Amino acid sequence: MGETEPVSGFRKQNIAAVDVERLVAALDQQDAAAGVRRLRAWAYEALAVRAGERALDVGSGTGCQTGRLADAVGPDGDALGIEPNPGLRAVAEERAAAAGSRARFTDSDALALPLPDASVNVLWCERVLQHLTEADRAVAEKQAG
Ligand SMILES: C[S@@+](CC[C@H](N)C(=O)[O-])C[C@H]1O[C@@H](n2cnc3c(N)ncnc32)[C@H](O)[C@@H]1O
Repeated sequence: MGETEPVSGFRKQNIAAVDVERLVAALDQQDAAAGVRRLRAWAYEALAVRAGERALDVGSGTGCQTGRLADAVGPDGDALGIEPNPGLRAVAEERAAAAGSRARFTDSDALALPLPDASVNVLWCERVLQHLTEADRAVAEKQAG
C-alpha cells in the first residue's frame, strides 16, 4: 500500500507517458518467447486463414501478426492493423515496408472499429483486452465486426 502504481505503457490513456522504444523492446522479446510462439501456432491452425480473406488485427503493436496475416491472405486479400499508439504504428509501417508486406495500419480503437459490421473474415486480437478500460464493449464490437 502507498506504492505508486506502475504505468501500463500499453494503455491508450498512457501513450504520451511511455517511451515507445521500451514498448517495442518488450514486444520483440515477447515475439521471441517459446510460449507466445506456441500459442500463435495453435491459433493460426484454428483460424485456418485462407487466401483472399479480409483480416483485422486489433491492437497490432509492431505489426508482426498483421504481416503474418497479410502473407496468409495473399494479394487478393487484405490485412489491416488497428493501433492507437502513433509510435508503435510508425514502427509497424516501417517494418512492413522493409519486409515488402502488404499489411496496412490505421489509427483507431478497439471500442470503435472503422469498418462496417460483418465485413471481416478473420479477427486477431492478441494481449490487448487487459489494457482496455471497457473490455466487454470491445468484445461486443469485435463480434459485430
Ligand atoms: C501488449 S500489446 C500487444 C500488441 C500485439 N497484439 C502483439 O501481440 O504483439 C497491446 C497493444 O494494444 C494496443 N491498445 C491499447 N489500447 C487500445 C485500444 N483502445 N484499441 C486498440 N488497441 C489498443 C496497444 O497500443 C498495444 O499495441
